[in-house]
Amino acid sequence: MSGRELLVSGNWKMHHTHFDAIRFVQSLAALLRVAPLPSGRQLSVHPPFTALRSVQTALESDDVRVALGAQDCNQAEEGAFTGEVSATMLEKLNVSYVIVGHSERRRYAQESDETVRAKLDAVLRHSMVPILCVGESLDQREAGEAHSTVSSQLEAALSGRSATVTSRLVIAYEPVWAIGTGRSASPGDAEEMAGHVRAEVARLSGAAAAAEVRVQYGGSVSDENAASFLRCDDVDGLLVGGASLSADSFHRIATA
Ligand code: PGA
Repeated sequence: MSGRELLVSGNWKMHHTHFDAIRFVQSLAALLRVAPLPSGRQLSVHPPFTALRSVQTALESDDVRVALGAQDCNQAEEGAFTGEVSATMLEKLNVSYVIVGHSERRRYAQESDETVRAKLDAVLRHSMVPILCVGESLDQREAGEAHSTVSSQLEAALSGRSATVTSRLVIAYEPVWAIGTGRSASPGDAEEMAGHVRAEVARLSGAAAAAEVRVQYGGSVSDENAASFLRCDDVDGLLVGGASLSADSFHRIATA
């Protein structure tokens, strides 16, 4: 046993209005009362910005032990950035985890490694925990560049950070070809890459950080394959997209 607490996170992406979100929390709370989480596990849900306040209130008023997460934030403290949301705003909603550098943002919002690093800084300044996403595309994997791609993303985000800072992070290994495709990595591949992530963290921030940092697997996780990933020693949880949208399916994954 690693002693690291497993974190199962539901990334809703651009799904669920605030009404849907409240119903989701009520259903999940009812399911957790009947079948609670196994010990040593945490859950987080990452609604769109428009549902954060409703989910916060629903979780807090019912004392549901699920952490509130966001899907992104801007790197600036405040300013003339139409449409953006700051880390301060998230902190005030009691957000605990913020996804940073998801491949969909790297792709559709052209987020560079430098932007991802700046967002990581913003989340850390506000005492929230970043879930830093890394992972290779299909072309990169087929060219034998999966490991070097992940290494360079980690280096850009983590170089020069102390063990104290890096050990607080969650790093999600999400191969881009597995996201939303129904074709997950094999548990063996996920374990091997989680080990690579940990080795890179050791190189960049020291062995103590590598022992503490949590590494999630993400990409077509379902209630059928979740347990096989959670059994891997180096995999400390899951980042779940599509299968986190229904409370039933998310609960089955969380308790797998
Ligand atoms: P998926 O998405 O589970 O729908 O593949 C995972 C993610 O993008 O975080």
